[in-house]
Amino acid sequence: MISTDPNKFQAIISHAKEYGFVFQSSEIYDGLSAVYDYGPWGSELKRNIRDHWWNSMTRMHDNIVGIDTAIFMHPTIWKASGHIDNFSDPMIDNKDSQKRYRVDHLIEGYAESLNAKGDTEGAEKVIAEMDRLLAASDMAGLKGLIEVFGIKCSVSGTASWTDVRQFNLMFSTQLGSVAEDANEIYLRPETAQGIFVNFLNVQKSARMKIPFGIAQVGKAFRNEIVARQFIFRMREFEQMEMQFFIRPGTQKEWYEYWKEERMKWHTTLGFPAEHYRFHDHVKLAHYADAAVDIEYAFPIGWKEVEGIHSRTDFDLSSHQQFSGKKLQYFDNEINKNYVPYVIETSIGLDRMFLLTLSHAYAEEHWTKEDGKEDSRVVLRIPPRLSPIKLAVLPLVKKDGLPEIAREIMKECREDFYCFYEEKDTIGKRYRRMDALGTPFCVTIDHQSKEDQTVTIRYRDSMQQERVPIATLRELVRAQIK
Ligand code: GAP
Repeated sequence: MISTDPNKFQAIISHAKEYGFVFQSSEIYDGLSAVYDYGPWGSELKRNIRDHWWNSMTRMHDNIVGIDTAIFMHPTIWKASGHIDNFSDPMIDNKDSQKRYRVDHLIEGYAESLNAKGDTEGAEKVIAEMDRLLAASDMAGLKGLIEVFGIKCSVSGTASWTDVRQFNLMFSTQLGSVAEDANEIYLRPETAQGIFVNFLNVQKSARMKIPFGIAQVGKAFRNEIVARQFIFRMREFEQMEMQFFIRPGTQKEWYEYWKEERMKWHTTLGFPAEHYRFHDHVKLAHYADAAVDIEYAFPIGWKEVEGIHSRTDFDLSSHQQFSGKKLQYFDNEINKNYVPYVIETSIGLDRMFLLTLSHAYAEEHWTKEDGKEDSRVVLRIPPRLSPIKLAVLPLVKKDGLPEIAREIMKECREDFYCFYEEKDTIGKRYRRMDALGTPFCVTIDHQSKEDQTVTIRYRDSMQQERVPIATLRELVRAQIK
């Protein structure tokens, strides 16, 4: 049974700050809500996740190529994509506190409180009823649900609510220097549209044949109303998306294929299969004929980390209609022109980052041989994703040991991230590397001068062994593949 652990979640947030993974944006100005910065080790971890996704999509598939499109796009794109009309969430305001809530979050919070009291059946009923009303876009019914359960605003403590209204999540700004001439444009709420509008450019220039995919990693922006839970729900975040263009009629088989492929990607990284599940969408987005979330058991509960959507020909057909340009493909195997169908895989980079920390973070306590208690905080990050792969630690700052350590750095740093540290006792240095998730530490001691060997220490087992310096680079390389 997988249970939530709010204390662990808070501990992860503190650890992320203390060890240079994630900082609140604009912290010295008291922060900006739901916007975060990545520190030295956070940006390395994020880059490793991004690179791993990118390589598994592009290098490991002959028929997928990557692109990098602009955040600003022609405003009509968002009309064509349906985001101007449909990209909204039902919201409700509390009249006393003036605080605005996403209706589903408010009702989910109530269901969670039932769960906490042991009434799981009641909680499930509440969620089922909410899903039914959301699917029917029944705003009055949703407000009725909030009233029936007596859900109160956490700020004012009252149940004085406005009607439920739809609220668009896109940020807009002005393009152009003179206010009167300026065009309203949007910060993209998903990276996918940059792929759709370049479909023919990519297909032709990269000589792609259907079925083929286009991958992209980039920033997306959403004016999330209830944006709490650390980097889980942010206003500025990064997506890793892939649109797979297929022949109409084959969408069911490709949808199943990508569901399986994406789940495999997660579990082969070393994350436990029992912490994952699929969750079919009840209310489909305006573009989808089937959609599923890959959910992970975060310390704050089961939550979506990735979506797989069967988007039909909705986007390409719509861009064809709005732009007046043909977005079709001639399939010479069946001698036919058509607008391709699309299966999309879309994963949040920041959410994958949080998933990695949630899996990795552990507080360990044990009794040593001398009967004393010991403990550590360790990040069991899969070694291929770890920010630092190898810490190079001379036992003392003299006797020629730092020189040997510098030689090891020189030998290895081009292949993987190495970190040199000579301050503090060796025990303290090991603990610090555990807290950063560094899978391997090597200590250079006086024996190293005699026989060119070092002690390698493994983060997870804390075991140590003596190995020749000459084998070090290959040893680490083999374990971070
Ligand atoms: N193109 C499809 C699309 O954008 P989505 O389910 O809205 O679908 C895909 O988003 C993924 O992007 C989610 O599974 C999640 O990982 C991530 N994501 C969405 N909104 C987010 C937010 N406000 N903060 C962080 N990640 C977010």
